[in-house]
Amino acid sequence: MRHSCPVEQREWDRLKEHAVDVMGGAYAPYSHYPVGAAALTDDGRTVVGCNVENAAYGVVLCAECGVVSQLHATGGGRLTHFVCVNGDGDVIMPCGRCRQLLFEHGGRDLELWTVSGIKTMAEVLPDAFGPDDLALVATEQNGTR
Ligand code: THU
Repeated sequence: MRHSCPVEQREWDRLKEHAVDVMGGAYAPYSHYPVGAAALTDDGRTVVGCNVENAAYGVVLCAECGVVSQLHATGGGRLTHFVCVNGDGDVIMPCGRCRQLLFEHGGRDLELWTVSGIKTMAEVLPDAFGPDDLALVATEQNGTR
């Protein structure tokens, strides 16, 4: 599976099971709000992550950080499908910062299981700032020098 394509509910359910499993490893002694996240990659791998908190509260690593780290640690590529869950195993929305993080590694077409169904990244982070914005300025600067 090289490109993002719709997957069946069965596959989404499998991905969510991975998210629930990894949520069990969360380190959340301060918020008591464990999170697990799982994603499919464009070559068919499954990557996961859980939140890891810190006594310096602001240093928290969201579960999505683990997903992105595992993506690159296991060969890179792009995220195509994503879901994250809370301690009850309910689907939650990625926080604003993590939508930006996911956008970098999945782009507009990344599909997310959200609290209101399957949506694309373009829907949950409209008009996102991203790598293309940087490339645009670099191109303009090259043209004027
Ligand atoms: N959290 C995540 O791991 N991902 C999100 O997208 C939402 C929030 C974590 C951070 C913190 O450890 C806990 O949930 C409560 O905010």
